[in-house]
Amino acid sequence: MNEIAAKPVPTLPDTQVVTSVTHYTDQLFAFRVTRPASLRFRSGEFVMIGLMGDPHPETGRQKPLLRAYSIASPSWDEELEFYSIKVPDGPLTSKLQHIQPGDKIILKPKPVGTLVHDALLPGKRLYLFATGTGFAPFASLLREPDTFDNYDEIIVTHTCRDVAELTYGRELIENLRIDEMMIEFLGEENIAKIRYYPTTTREHSPKMGRITTLIENGELFRDLGVPPLDPATDRAMVCGSLAFNLDIKVLLESAGLHEGANSEPGQFVIEKAFVG
Ligand code: A2P
Repeated sequence: MNEIAAKPVPTLPDTQVVTSVTHYTDQLFAFRVTRPASLRFRSGEFVMIGLMGDPHPETGRQKPLLRAYSIASPSWDEELEFYSIKVPDGPLTSKLQHIQPGDKIILKPKPVGTLVHDALLPGKRLYLFATGTGFAPFASLLREPDTFDNYDEIIVTHTCRDVAELTYGRELIENLRIDEMMIEFLGEENIAKIRYYPTTTREHSPKMGRITTLIENGELFRDLGVPPLDPATDRAMVCGSLAFNLDIKVLLESAGLHEGANSEPGQFVIEKAFVG
């Protein structure tokens, strides 16, 4: 070993390498990174990821900037995928949006979260209610065989301000329907259980309105030809902004559904879509 090779190379703990980056709009992007060999997670969970912050002006020391991100890839995938907003003055996402393949990110391999099948009682119909980047955990769950084994029907609603913001979710579902490998893996009859219900609130699209309004006025159920929410058959996973989560929780509870947790499964579960 020569002298140069013997020098210790400074490495950060828990780093992973970016393998691909896709920008959807000037505010949304997805990226994939290598997966730590030891990382096991349940589809729907999140981990802390981030980058090193700027050096302290006096000491020059850098601290890691970490945020919770839902893993958007399924538990069987050899890489990890994340779907993120770009906040211009967000401490992390203002930097993270510039990552390129080959760059390193920090990833703490301690997955947690409530949007998991273990937190729901058995049911017939699963609703996945997302706004904005809240689609991420559902991108994981929609590629997980358990999701299909547990239900007869999976209704995926995604509400965004503009049509372009729906792209990541729409392409993911469209690809599931045509990807030979996924059809083989999940089963054609299972993929056929997915009913996709995208809505926009600002830009014009075929279906407009907040999903909460469309639940309240019954339009969602009429459009899909399904009965109103029923605690005996319906289960729901919710992921969006804090305000959205609070509003939809009221609607689910008034329909008689009870919130579940890992320790005590129920009829719906909620997670905040994390931004920053
Ligand atoms: P709206 O355009 O009417 O605010 P955001 O980008 O602010 O996170 O919002 C993402 C989507 O979620 C938007 O379409 C927004 O609709 C909708 N939304 C925001 N807050 C709520 C809420 N409290 N209930 C239902 N939908 C909401």
